[in-house]
Amino acid sequence: MEAVEQVVRALVVALMNSLLYFSGHRRVREATETAVRALDTYFQDQPILHLGIRENLLIFEGRPLYDLSIYAHRLIRAIRDQGAWGIRFERGVTAEEVRRLVEVLLRPSAGSAAPKPTAQGEPVAPEAGAEDATGRQQAPGGSAPPKAETVNDQLRQEGITRVALETQPLVERGVVGPTAAESAARAMGGEEVSRSLYTTALGVLQDLMVELRQQTKPSFRDANAVAQGIAEALDSQRTPLIALTAIKDYDEYTFNHSINVCIYLTALARELTTDPREILRIAQAGLLHDVGKILIADEILYKPGSLSDAEWQVMRQHPLVGAKILVEAEGVDELAVNVAFGHHLHYDRKGYPQVAGDITIDPITELVNVIDVYEAVTAKRPYKQPFPPERVTKLLLEGSGTFFDPICVEAFVRSFGVYPPGTRVLLANGCRAEVLSVNPNRPFDPVVRLTHDPEGQPVEGVEVVNTASEEPADTERTTGPGEAGEKRRPHAVLRSLP
Ligand SMILES: [Fe+2]
Repeated sequence: MEAVEQVVRALVVALMNSLLYFSGHRRVREATETAVRALDTYFQDQPILHLGIRENLLIFEGRPLYDLSIYAHRLIRAIRDQGAWGIRFERGVTAEEVRRLVEVLLRPSAGSAAPKPTAQGEPVAPEAGAEDATGRQQAPGGSAPPKAETVNDQLRQEGITRVALETQPLVERGVVGPTAAESAARAMGGEEVSRSLYTTALGVLQDLMVELRQQTKPSFRDANAVAQGIAEALDSQRTPLIALTAIKDYDEYTFNHSINVCIYLTALARELTTDPREILRIAQAGLLHDVGKILIADEILYKPGSLSDAEWQVMRQHPLVGAKILVEAEGVDELAVNVAFGHHLHYDRKGYPQVAGDITIDPITELVNVIDVYEAVTAKRPYKQPFPPERVTKLLLEGSGTFFDPICVEAFVRSFGVYPPGTRVLLANGCRAEVLSVNPNRPFDPVVRLTHDPEGQPVEGVEVVNTASEEPADTERTTGPGEAGEKRRPHAVLRSLP
């Protein structure tokens, strides 16, 4: 499974860099070589790797790869655009063949539109996997005839035989997809819609990056639709959407950060105002706060390790660069410009860019300052492990009044608690659990769903515990870190789990 994940990640990197540069670029070459190394590992046990797609999901051995699908959404879209149901690699495939496949995937495909976000942020076309009146699945390109066969013919003519597009759904090849019960269960929890929205948001930001780097005038219409989708989804799916920020995975261009900041900020905005237009302005500002980073060179932006002084100077340009992009854009509110400019100024104005005098910045910018740091330090990156959320909360409280506006820190902790939804935690009684929601006045005591009993066995069914509830009569004495002998409720949260 690890090898398959590496293959997918390398394909996404190759695809993105082909989009940004050209298919012969060094970064594309390196990525295809990485893909082939991972494929070789896989081929030690199997002669062929089938990677299928179904709706917005990657399917491997009949199972949807949920988290990886979010990362690989651009790859999934490219496969769908070619009217294909997946890709197939055979033992012996070369880096050059993989590079050519990536090139083919990016070729414009007439008659199969790329998914565009609706107001809810859900892709509307093509609807891969939808069934027609006869119960047969339609081709992923909608009613247009599949082009995958033509693509395969062309590859074969070029002598490329060990990689091809899948021309039929894998379900018809004897590989079973997620059961209806699985799909229904996930949809009931709102996860399916939230993931679809998250995936769409990633795609929109990637498209924006390509447009800005190619110096074409970008349209912010799709970004606005995504901001609106997030604002609306938080109405009914606050928990699953916030839980998605806990994936803490990274993509090559860290767009997850912008989306996560947008989700946190918009969730907070909904507690500050009921005006939908105001909420939308705030959501847009959150989504676009780091847009200036798009134009920072990759070598600096994704440098593993610390930056030199000169590199820091460049990095510190991103608020100004972002504000300039947004002020010149159509359909972008002034608030987004202000937030992009001011989100690193800090409460004491000792951040960057340097400003003269004690300038006033709006409270939303102060909030983004808090959320930006929170999200960045809890995120996993190729070069660092995430901070546990309780340590980050401590960091926010210590910086309150200097780095951060105290009111904003309080609002954030009150709303998301010490353990935000999606965090995995250890309870005093030894059970493991996942946070479902926060008790506003009890930031240390969330509502959780038990996942494992004290012996480490998975908990069957759904068992929800409000850790803020009064202790039962048979309270045991348990030992928490640094608090030997302290009387604790058995279901109190001890700490987060990695
Ligand atoms: Fe930033």
